[in-house]
Amino acid sequence: MITESQIDLIVKDMFRGISFTSEPQGLYDPLRYMIEIGGKRIRPKLCLTAYSFFNDNFGEEILSPAAALEVFHSFTLMHDDIMDRSPLRRGVPTVWTRWNESTAILSGDVMLIDAYKRMARAPQHVHDKVMNLFFKTTVEVCEGQQYDMDFESKDMVTMEEYDKMIGLKTAVLIACSAKTGALIGGAPDKICDALYNYGYQLGMAFQIADDYLDAFGDEKVFGKPIGGDIVNSKKSWLTVRALEKSSDKKGFMEAFALPARSDAQKAAKISTVRQLYITLGVDRDAKDEILHFTARAMKAVEDSGLTRRQIDELDDFAEKLIGRAK
Ligand code: IPE
Ligand code: IPE
Ligand code: MG
Ligand code: MG
Ligand code: MG
Repeated sequence: MITESQIDLIVKDMFRGISFTSEPQGLYDPLRYMIEIGGKRIRPKLCLTAYSFFNDNFGEEILSPAAALEVFHSFTLMHDDIMDRSPLRRGVPTVWTRWNESTAILSGDVMLIDAYKRMARAPQHVHDKVMNLFFKTTVEVCEGQQYDMDFESKDMVTMEEYDKMIGLKTAVLIACSAKTGALIGGAPDKICDALYNYGYQLGMAFQIADDYLDAFGDEKVFGKPIGGDIVNSKKSWLTVRALEKSSDKKGFMEAFALPARSDAQKAAKISTVRQLYITLGVDRDAKDEILHFTARAMKAVEDSGLTRRQIDELDDFAEKLIGRAK
């Protein structure tokens, strides 16, 4: 079995050997920019970790699908940043602010196609299974993103609706990453499904951590402006929980709908809403919920047929992910 640091190295090298077309520059420069600025690369790492439990031959037939997951993810971010009006990503200006919206739309489109091409290099014996999983997952991510936008203009969002939304926009891709690695590695069905479930529950924890860090993180580490969700009145886990707990829902929603055009208005809104979160204790609730979903992730692989060592490795992966500050 390959070690975690070897997987980190493989993922680091993953895009080094890949050359994206260069002309027209307006189309491919933003794509290269997104890939080169990197990110945590958790999806290919999880894919390779699951694969490594069954196979230690790291050739094109696994590296290409693992890269596809990262290219697809980066594509969703390029479009997500337009939708969320986000100025900063991974510590640098977003594509739509550095170039323009049309460029970010078209470069994103070509990245999506690039991701499908890479996934299609999955080996013959599991080709249809891998492709069908990827088709299903990528459609689900779009569905989740639509619910996310719909929620911006809804007064009330329940926790059930919220969980369904993040399940689609975030968790299914992490689940797909784990299962793709297992499928290509040749794992039995039961383990493939357990790893899917692990990825799903971990993905839920991951998105709640993202929502928490958006309000309470450190911008220099997180790489995204703190308070972005509050400024844009995006309903995060914290908002939904606050709506559940608050005895003055109308007052909370009024604060959440405060205008945030000037810098002074933005700072005032962030501070007001953050204070309400703290008063209601939803920051602590978020931390509990992250632990709750992480425990469910570990439960999913408990009696799956994986070895103790493999389960420990998944535990380490989960711990790192939820202990994150970025
Ligand atoms: C950001 O994903 C979007 C979410 C699903 C929360 P990551 O936090 O994995 O972003 P990068 O790739 O590391 O920048
Ligand atoms: C992103 O959710 C989910 C997808 C990109 C599919 P967010 O909008 O919370 O992600 P960030 O915070 O911009 O990274
Ligand atoms: Mg978004
Ligand atoms: Mg966003
Ligand atoms: Mg976010």
